[in-house]
Amino acid sequence: MTSVDLFTPGKIGTLEVPNRMIMSPMTRSRMLTNGVPSDMAIEYYSQRASAGLILTEGTAPSAGGIGYARTPAIETAEQVAGWKKITDAVSAKHGHMFVQLMHVGRIGSPLNRFTDQPLVAPSAVKPAGQIWTDAKGLQDFGTPHALSTAEIGVIVEEYAQATRNAFKAGFKGVELHAASGYLPMQFLSSNTNLRTDQYGGNVNNRIRFVMEVLDAMIAAAGSPAKVGIKIAPGMPFNDINDADPVETYTTLVKALAGKGLAYLHVLQTALPGTFELLRPHYSGTFAAAGGFTKDSGTAALQSGLADFIVYGKLFIANPDLPHRFARNVPLAAPDPTTFYTPGPKGYIDQPAAS
Ligand SMILES: Cc1cc2nc3c(=O)[nH]c(=O)nc-3n(C[C@H](O)[C@H](O)[C@H](O)COP(=O)(O)O)c2cc1C
Repeated sequence: MTSVDLFTPGKIGTLEVPNRMIMSPMTRSRMLTNGVPSDMAIEYYSQRASAGLILTEGTAPSAGGIGYARTPAIETAEQVAGWKKITDAVSAKHGHMFVQLMHVGRIGSPLNRFTDQPLVAPSAVKPAGQIWTDAKGLQDFGTPHALSTAEIGVIVEEYAQATRNAFKAGFKGVELHAASGYLPMQFLSSNTNLRTDQYGGNVNNRIRFVMEVLDAMIAAAGSPAKVGIKIAPGMPFNDINDADPVETYTTLVKALAGKGLAYLHVLQTALPGTFELLRPHYSGTFAAAGGFTKDSGTAALQSGLADFIVYGKLFIANPDLPHRFARNVPLAAPDPTTFYTPGPKGYIDQPAAS
C-alpha cells in the first residue's frame, strides 16, 4: 500500500503536475473541416485545466491521418496556430497539455478528408462496419491501400514533424495513440497485419512500426520524457482482433520498458487483468484507464497498480472533476447523444460546481 491518492502531486517526465488525474483523449468532432481547432475548443479545454494533465482528442499528424468528421490535425501553420491558442489558454490557468497523435489508418471515409490520398493500412483488409459523414450520413468502410515500405517511412517522418509542430504549438509533450484499432494497432494486430516483410508475421515484426514511430517522436521531442503511448490490449473496437494479445502486449511493453518515456497509458477493455499483466513489466510511470471512479482510482493508486488514473467520460460532464472529487460534489452524468455533435451543447455548457 502507498499513501498516494488522486490529489498527490506527481511527475510526468520532468513535468510537475498538481494531481494524479489525467483527462483522457476524446474526439469531440467540434473542430473545423480543414483540421484547424475551433475557437470553441479553447473554452472546452480551458474549462478542464485543473486536470493534472490534459490529453487532447486524437489529432492527425498529417491530412492522410484524418478519418472522422470535424477532427483536428497538427500539420499546417494554421492548425499549429489554432492549437497554440488552446495551450495558451490552458497555461494561463496553470494547466498542462500533451497532444495525442492519432493516424486512423484504414478507419475513415474519404468524405471526411481534405486530401485525395487513399486511406491506408498495413494490409488491404476492409474493416466491417460504417462511419458517420456529414455529407452522406453513415457510409461503409472501404478497402485501404496497403502501405509499401517507403510509404511507411513517410508516415514515420510525419509523426516526427507533428511532434516538432506540437512543441511549436505550446504542448509539453506528445502521446502516440496505439489503441482503438487505428494505424499503429492495425500493425500490432494479426487480423489487420498480413504482411510478410519486416513489419508483419511474428510479434517482433508486428511491434516494429510502433517502435519506429516512437523512436522518431522521441528524437523529434529531444527527450523520451516528453513522449507517452496509449495501448489497449485486446480492445475489439473498429473490427480489430489479435490472436494473442497477451503475447503481443507483453512483448511490446517489455520493449517500451527501458525507454524512459513520460508514461505508459493502458486502457483496459475486453481483457480482464490487463493492468496486473503489464504492470510487472513496466517500472516507469503507469497510467491506467477505463471506467474508473474516484474510489476505484484511489484504490489503484494505493495498491501501486498505477501512478496516474485517466478519466474520460467523467471529464466531459464534469469540467472541474478534481474539485468535485476533492469535495465529494455529486457528479453530472455524461450524455452520449452529444459526444460527437457539432455545436456547444454537451461541449462547453456544463457548469463547474461551486
Ligand atoms: C466521446 C469519446 C471520444 C473518444 N475519443 C478518443 C480519442 O480520440 N483517442 C483515444 O485514445 N481514446 C478516445 N476515447 C476513449 C477514451 O479516451 C477512454 O479511453 C475511454 O472512454 C475509457 O475511459 P472512461 O471510462 O473514463 O471514459 C474516446 C471516448 C469517448 C467517450
